[in-house]
Amino acid sequence: MAAEFPPGTGGAALGERRLYGRDGMRSPVVWDVLREVVAARVAQTGREALDIVDAGGGTGGFAVPFAALGHRVTVVDPSPDALAAAQRRAAEVHVRLTAVQGDADGLDGLVGESAADLVLCHSVLEYVDAPAASMAAIARVLRPGATVSVLAANAVAAVLHRALAGRYTEARELLLGIGPGGVAQREAPGTDVPRRFTLAGLTALIESPGLRTGDAHGIRVFAGLLPAGAADADAAAADALRALEDAAAVYPALRDIAARLHVLGHR
Ligand SMILES: C[S@@+](CC[C@H](N)C(=O)[O-])C[C@H]1O[C@@H](n2cnc3c(N)ncnc32)[C@H](O)[C@@H]1O
Repeated sequence: MAAEFPPGTGGAALGERRLYGRDGMRSPVVWDVLREVVAARVAQTGREALDIVDAGGGTGGFAVPFAALGHRVTVVDPSPDALAAAQRRAAEVHVRLTAVQGDADGLDGLVGESAADLVLCHSVLEYVDAPAASMAAIARVLRPGATVSVLAANAVAAVLHRALAGRYTEARELLLGIGPGGVAQREAPGTDVPRRFTLAGLTALIESPGLRTGDAHGIRVFAGLLPAGAADADAAAADALRALEDAAAVYPALRDIAARLHVLGHR
């Protein structure tokens, strides 16, 4: 099927929501960046269908739209429930998806070395046992010239959000919990509290297996500070907020405090 890419460029809102899911709809800057990455790789390789691996791809919010564009997409995730949901989402829009159960740190053993043109690692480094081991496995899966797209929670934003909510002691503890490497560790493995990263920390992590970092964007600079659904009821306000977010995503001082950080790594 033909898919709108990225979301927000037309088509029925309901259809987009079904294809992209809530998270996909909330990350238009990420889709804009990925559209350029894919176009560049298609031009570089001369192949229209790329091999894309979604490490910790969950329910397929990113994987399914790529599959709908005709790419060969493999979702790797330890959760059988998430993989089943991703397959259901793919079936709903009549696209094929390969689902493999496993952890990001074993990615090369699951999909093969030098097997991917693009690896997505979105909202996963927060939860893995050892982010450096996962990033090393991702690097081994990338082909020369291929790209990893990393999206992760920003440790600085968490401090800001707590402070703006009047939770000053928590904010200070979060701030002091950011280690010298720019990583705020999970409070207790196995809980829902995620690990968080500064931009410097995420950059160092991506570079640790020898990848070269590329563009970095701040995702949800203002939206993360507004009450949930603040601009949802007013279409004009939602459009204005999206335009503001687009501009802020690349403005260093604002990018660095965004709720989430999106960084590309190239092999
Ligand atoms: C917040 S969800 C993100 C899902 C998807 N990447 C997205 O952006 O919508 C986190 C996902 O990471 C997966 N996960 C947890 N530990 C993992 C690990 N060690 N390796 C790979 N994925 C893992 C979870 O099962 C879950 O699907």
